[in-house]
Amino acid sequence: MKKETSPQSFDRIVREVFAPIYPVIAGQIIAKSGIVSGKCLDVGCGTGALGRAIAKITDLEITFFDRSEEMLELAKGYANDENIANRCDFLQGDIHSIGLPSGSMDIVISRGSSPFWDDWRQAYSEIIRILKKGGMAYIGGGFGNAELREQITRTMTQNNPDWRKSFKDKVVAEREALPDILRSLKPSHFEIINDDSGFWSVITK
Ligand SMILES: C[S@@+](CC[C@H](N)C(=O)[O-])C[C@H]1O[C@@H](n2cnc3c(N)ncnc32)[C@H](O)[C@@H]1O
Repeated sequence: MKKETSPQSFDRIVREVFAPIYPVIAGQIIAKSGIVSGKCLDVGCGTGALGRAIAKITDLEITFFDRSEEMLELAKGYANDENIANRCDFLQGDIHSIGLPSGSMDIVISRGSSPFWDDWRQAYSEIIRILKKGGMAYIGGGFGNAELREQITRTMTQNNPDWRKSFKDKVVAEREALPDILRSLKPSHFEIINDDSGFWSVITK
């Protein structure tokens, strides 16, 4: 998200354009991880669309984590409206120093946030630190499938031909840097998914 994109504009884009991708991505995450109970952290949750989609298909307790208080307020409002607030927590903070104990999460998810992180090694190291042994992280970006990607790209480009300009270079840089970073952090296992669902790193502690 560009610095000048307000939480309110982002919220509108999520509701009007991106909405169909979250249930698709949530299904892919759960199919891959098989983790349906315990604790889940949605990093850079924005308005919480991915974490909320995960909550609806699992028994997971979701902690919504973002550096923006305004985003967290929006996420909280939706969690109340959708009657999932009893399984939701909201934590403000920065990915580079997550205020949670080591080994406290069964699964960490994040979509569309990592290109905005300043230090990927530190950020991924924090994600691995807070995972339980055997827990999984599913971090990256994408639109779920080719049809949704094409439809959303068309709509976003019609509205603003430069919509990707502010983060495109960071996306490319992260993709190049990630394999070496993950190797150096030595999780039990990691794989990179780069297909129609998007670009995701799947890390098992
Ligand atoms: C493009 S939005 C994606 C929101 C949501 N995950 C989605 O897919 O709809 C990126 C989010 O990452 C958050 N973010 C960026 N850098 C962060 C950091 N260093 N620590 C925590 N959150 C961060 C922003 O505040 C923003 O809400």
